[in-house]
Amino acid sequence: MVAEIERLADPPAVGVAEKAAEVLAAGGLVAIPTETVYGLAADAANGGALARLFKVKGRPRFNPLICHVDSLEMAECLGHFDDRARELAGRFWPGPLTLIVPRRAACPVHPLATAGLPTIGIRMPKGPVRQIIRAFGKPLAAPSANISSRLSPTRAEHVAAQLGGAIDLILDAGPCPVGLESTIISLEPGRAARLLRPGGLSVVDIEAVLGEGLARTGPDASVEAPGMMASHYAPRARLRLDAIAVLPGEALLAFGPDVPPGGPVAVRNLSPAGDLTEAAVNLFSHLAELDAEGVDKIAVMAIPDTPGTLGEAINDRLRRAALDPGVPEASDDRQ
Ligand code: TXA
Ligand code: MG
Repeated sequence: MVAEIERLADPPAVGVAEKAAEVLAAGGLVAIPTETVYGLAADAANGGALARLFKVKGRPRFNPLICHVDSLEMAECLGHFDDRARELAGRFWPGPLTLIVPRRAACPVHPLATAGLPTIGIRMPKGPVRQIIRAFGKPLAAPSANISSRLSPTRAEHVAAQLGGAIDLILDAGPCPVGLESTIISLEPGRAARLLRPGGLSVVDIEAVLGEGLARTGPDASVEAPGMMASHYAPRARLRLDAIAVLPGEALLAFGPDVPPGGPVAVRNLSPAGDLTEAAVNLFSHLAELDAEGVDKIAVMAIPDTPGTLGEAINDRLRRAALDPGVPEASDDRQ
């Protein structure tokens, strides 16, 4: 497969936005131009499309993805906006600013896009891409459209060179005017606004609107992957990896058709057929369901840890979850 390249004018030529929306609705992957960098977009509610997106990027981890919206109304269906969030969105959207806010209970975004987190990253990009989101009518999850660990693309040709053989459509709007990823600000209730990633919007401008300085998370945390701290990933239950039997009192997170002996207190199978894409789709929801059932311990069957496959990302997530058993809700300072 070689992705079709379609020119995206501003405003888009007749039929282009509808065509992109059709590809997205069918679970396809579409490279979109934003003012910052090109993104690789999928329907944020479609777990299968998201699993394919991670696979194509060769990401060794399930980083949470930014959800791109065309309106404040769409944004507020996804996350809780406090006064600060509304002020920043009102002043800087559309533009190179991503807001991390608490996820709404009824948020339609698949947990693979938010990596199972209670928060969600949202931004309204500038340019004709908004017409694509409008035509699709739903948020688009989109990381930068590069292969993992390569540079973010600022031209359609960069996208075609890296991913052209693996995705469905590339929308070409010429070079990205900002050329730098969005600035990411975390707005959690009761906490000072925090800078998670410097980017295309100046921190000074943000601080001027907020009327206060932004908290910095320190050199370690203001990394490329702010959503990747180990503590982001802990379910309450303790995980025992590579289990070949279920011990008394354990729940089972299975993979494949051959379930080990023992009588688990609860079972979820990531993929009875042993399919990694299906396992990726189910990973966060199955862990959340077992947590919701109140289980203390989860035996996790081995999942093939082949580099460059979704198995690598699934194992990364499970190892993080196993490292940190989590803490009770009352004293929970997880972010
Ligand atoms: O300009 C941009 O932001 C581009 C364009 C395509 O929109 N996108 C982009 O996406 O740079 P990506 O996936 O390469 O980087 C998104 C960053 C990741 O480091 C991720 O950890 C963080 O956003 N992120 C997303 N949701 C988060 C959350 N709920 N909490 C903390 N960090 C989050
Ligand atoms: Mg990136």
